[in-house]
Amino acid sequence: MSKPLPPGIEKVLFTEEQIRDRIRQVAAEINAHYHGKSLKLIGVLKGSVFFLTALARELEIPVKVDFLAISSFSNQSSAPGLVRIAKDLDETLEREDVLLVEDIVDTGFTARYLLQTLAGRGPNSIAICTLLDRTSRRIVQVPIQFRCFEIPDRFVIGFGLDYRQLYRDLGFIAVLNPDRTM
Ligand code: IMP
Ligand code: MG
Repeated sequence: MSKPLPPGIEKVLFTEEQIRDRIRQVAAEINAHYHGKSLKLIGVLKGSVFFLTALARELEIPVKVDFLAISSFSNQSSAPGLVRIAKDLDETLEREDVLLVEDIVDTGFTARYLLQTLAGRGPNSIAICTLLDRTSRRIVQVPIQFRCFEIPDRFVIGFGLDYRQLYRDLGFIAVLNPDRTM
């Protein structure tokens, strides 16, 4: 059984199988990089949950998971780049090797804010792993250690990414034309 395709989908960028294969490759990089250590995965609600769970299952090193939620105003011209934590982590980061798991890094405001904030909590190390990277729209520079796909400057949905809270549940990633949604 497969879900019906939502209206407004212009093109599938990455199929479920391509995403699974690429996550395996990136998980292998992470396993090698953190060999002999354990890793704390930090997911940013809600978009990164789907990627985080898929990634975690491919990791061979021991992992812990924790989540935070942010309010972002980075798409509003009134307050560009303003990000704050709306729901904080449950546990401390002291002496942990931390991997911040993101669905997409776009302007970079969210990732840079989280990186700076979490780095101040005494982790042993902190790095970013993102499913999608849209470097063409970057405004602030942020180091990305692990990434699955670079994408063009188009709005995308699926595998955790939403349009008005919909379509996170799709197994593939697609370009959406919001003018053609219902
Ligand atoms: P940044 O602070 O501009 O890097 O914003 C990243 C956040 O914007 C992501 O975590 C997403 O929630 C959202 N976002 C950016 N581009 C897209 C997209 O193409 N589809 C869905 N959400 C997006
Ligand atoms: Mg997000």
